[in-house]
Amino acid sequence: MIGKKMEAAINEQIKWEFYSGYMYLSMAAYFDGLGLAGFASWMRVQELEERFHAQKFMAQLVERGGTVKLAPIDGPPTGWMSPLAVFEDGLKHERGVTGRIGALLELAQKEKDHAAVIFIEWFVTEQVEEEASFAGVIAQLKLIDKTPGGLFMLDKDLAARTFNPTGA
Ligand code: FEO
Repeated sequence: MIGKKMEAAINEQIKWEFYSGYMYLSMAAYFDGLGLAGFASWMRVQELEERFHAQKFMAQLVERGGTVKLAPIDGPPTGWMSPLAVFEDGLKHERGVTGRIGALLELAQKEKDHAAVIFIEWFVTEQVEEEASFAGVIAQLKLIDKTPGGLFMLDKDLAARTFNPTGA
């Protein structure tokens, strides 16, 4: 049976995972508006990842005898200055999520909840990938800056991303 503090903290994290997905859908809509279908598709895959994360936490709570309490989700931002600004916001957001996952792990350690420690460690590894995928696109956007057609080539590349969660 999971403790009340861990249960509350996991419910809070579930809210943030859904918020992340909501924000990435907003970013997808921004790219749709620019006619960059590959960027939009990349963001939709990212949203699927976030929903997967949220449901992984939900399943764990149920398995541990806890109660899932879905909370209201704030509205995401809706406008950006450029594709680069979108990905910079995404990376900043992911770094914040990494901090939250770290705090969750520290709480599990403090509570001596070993099952939660092992479960949360998956997310520690996942956050390394999450940050790297945003940083990778930022690096490419900076490389193609002022290259004619570069944005459209990258759009084609990003369209290839598929939803392929690890440890599903
Ligand atoms: Fe659920 Fe993007 O971390």
